[in-house]
Amino acid sequence: MTKLNLAVFISGSGTNLQALIDKRNSGELLADIVVVVSDRPDAYGLKRAERNNIPTFVVDYRKLLRKFPERHQAYYHAEEKIIGILSNFKVDYVCLAGFMRLLSPGFLQVFKDGLVHRVINIHPALLPSFPGQHGYEDTFYYGCKWGGITVHFVDEGEDTGPIIGQVVYPIWPDDSLETIKKRGLSLEHGLYPQCINWIARGFVQVQKLGNRIVTNITDPHYSAIMEEMIKKALSSKHERCDGGGSG
Ligand code: GRF
Repeated sequence: MTKLNLAVFISGSGTNLQALIDKRNSGELLADIVVVVSDRPDAYGLKRAERNNIPTFVVDYRKLLRKFPERHQAYYHAEEKIIGILSNFKVDYVCLAGFMRLLSPGFLQVFKDGLVHRVINIHPALLPSFPGQHGYEDTFYYGCKWGGITVHFVDEGEDTGPIIGQVVYPIWPDDSLETIKKRGLSLEHGLYPQCINWIARGFVQVQKLGNRIVTNITDPHYSAIMEEMIKKALSSKHERCDGGGSG
């Protein structure tokens, strides 16, 4: 087992970052968060990191997009800055937690590790359904009866990389977009640390299967862990009916 050093990238409220910080603080995360990077100066997640004495950096993509007429130029300069920042820390994995920018193949190459990159992402839908920026909205308005959360390695596509972990939650007839987001987010906060711990413990085997790179989770407690998460997803309906709700 290795304790991993994580760089967490955010763009917004940072509840996933907070979940990782909480697990780190309670000793349940087999990783440390050594740096937080945001593409927006107003991301609330920056405050969460600062409160926990984690170094924070802003690489203002919007500013760079105004400065450079070509999008790829702006992104190139942004990523160069980020790589410079990360080089001051010993970063094992980059964890995207609501980071709303695509990373270029050039950036990913810096983190190439065998068949995958040491960059992971959490996506609020059951991939490969509903990639992109509106996972909850797309799931809900499609009329799905189950939604899902995916943690995956990042590849050159948008939300196309090898899946590490997934969990599903029910969408009940009286649900709204707001209630499913609450239910999903509270699952995100459990799944992301779990997947990081699987990586740290060496439980994520990566292999080629036909044309695709896939993972196999070798944790002997895998089914019990998944049962627990799904039980939580099912019981969250009652929390909501009682006026509660988590996330
Ligand atoms: C989450 O739903 C995550 O899955 C998606 O962006 C959202 C970020 O939320 N990629 P937060 O900033 O962690 O609260």
